[in-house]
Amino acid sequence: MKFDKVVTGGTVVTPSGTVVADIGIVGEKIEAIGTDLGAAANGATRIDASGHYVIPGVLDVHVHLALPFCGTVSSDDYLSGTRAAARGGVTTLVDFAIPYEGDSLSDAADNWHKRAEGKSLIDYTFHICITRWDEHKDQIEGMIERGFSTFKEFMIYESEGWQSDDRALFGTLEKMKEHGTMLLVHAESARVLDELIERHHTPELMAKHGANLHAMTRPNFIEAEAIQRAIMWSEITGGQLYIVHMSTEEGAELVKSAQMRGVPVLAETCAQYLVLDDSVFDQEDGHLFACCPQVKKQTDSLRLWKGMRSGEVSVVSTDTCTFTREQKAMWEGDWTKIPMGLPGLETLLPIVYTHGVRFGRISIEEMCRLLSTNPAQIMGLFPKKGAIQVGADADLAIVHPTHEITIDPAEMETNADWSPYEGWSLAGFSRTTLSRGDVIVDDYRVVGKAGRGKWLPRKKAGLARTESETKMSEA
Ligand code: URP
Ligand code: ZN
Ligand code: ZN
Repeated sequence: MKFDKVVTGGTVVTPSGTVVADIGIVGEKIEAIGTDLGAAANGATRIDASGHYVIPGVLDVHVHLALPFCGTVSSDDYLSGTRAAARGGVTTLVDFAIPYEGDSLSDAADNWHKRAEGKSLIDYTFHICITRWDEHKDQIEGMIERGFSTFKEFMIYESEGWQSDDRALFGTLEKMKEHGTMLLVHAESARVLDELIERHHTPELMAKHGANLHAMTRPNFIEAEAIQRAIMWSEITGGQLYIVHMSTEEGAELVKSAQMRGVPVLAETCAQYLVLDDSVFDQEDGHLFACCPQVKKQTDSLRLWKGMRSGEVSVVSTDTCTFTREQKAMWEGDWTKIPMGLPGLETLLPIVYTHGVRFGRISIEEMCRLLSTNPAQIMGLFPKKGAIQVGADADLAIVHPTHEITIDPAEMETNADWSPYEGWSLAGFSRTTLSRGDVIVDDYRVVGKAGRGKWLPRKKAGLARTESETKMSEA
């Protein structure tokens, strides 16, 4: 067989096992996986992967690029953000298209397409954010026809104009059930959170506690109450629910018991909740670490790692929302003014590989499920994305098992001039990244061209069945 490229001799992680094999690529697709394909290559470009893992390209399904938020705009756009992604072995990202005031859902999608086109190095799609239920509810079907199968609602952020109430959550989940699509929810309890912020917002407490107030005003029950409520609406409607950036042990317990009752709820966590805890706010520059929800305690991290093994945590993403030191300085001692978010795309795979696989918490196969296969299946992108198998896009990351890189923001692709992981030594950076057969990272450096990334249309999402599928199987 004639191939355009052959990746030779790597330890290849596939859905049916991990084997030393070659991967033959024709055009954008994986054409063959087997031994000795290299010998039959006849003029094919050979990419030596011996001594390396070859894993499916990572899907980061929770990303915000150039997001207007907290009075500024997040500093990684589709140029820097997707270069950072590629260096971290991420070959697909899902951003959130958020309607501005007066915008329809379709306007939001158009707007996000314009941000990505001509800039994105990797493939992408968007979750469509429903921010004004009465205005947006009749536009959902049109967006499904346009190729969007995931929607998002925020249970907080009233001041941004994004907040959804129970009526919107309930109504959207009913529609998700009807169409086999999925609702993503940012679950934090708005009213009690507002109350706690108000109680603590005094000059005395701010002088005393500084950025620690960010954590002090968001106890775990703020997330847990909201997750519980969203689960209730999913249970009643049968609509597929996906809890984004879950950060607490209480959340993991709620998701686990709901799944055991058969509620169609899934959850993701993010790399920062696995390796950071709220002692970061004691540091002199602790305000830099403010993200929403904030990082919690070590007991929460341990519970999330456990959930990744036992199934209540299906996906690890980043919630990338990058702000520079200058942007973070807007806080001037008031924690409610800190632009909330962290850089993440470039370090997702290195963090999960180093702190998961190398530290013996998860296997390499489990890591590939959490970073590639599960997100692809849940977001409706499988089998095109998410696994190394014949017929799939040739999206690959070639990773040395022990080669470590010390995190130095000056050497990174992100526009962030700081990193939550500065000085950490991490293995798991991608030596070579392929996206649809193109080498976009070579020898740890980005070589791919901006704008080559493609939008990915989708039809379905989640694991839940539609109303008509349920009726058919019951008949
Ligand atoms: O801190 C965060 N997460 N910023 C982005 C907005 C969100 O809630 O995902
Ligand atoms: Zn959020
Ligand atoms: Zn987010």
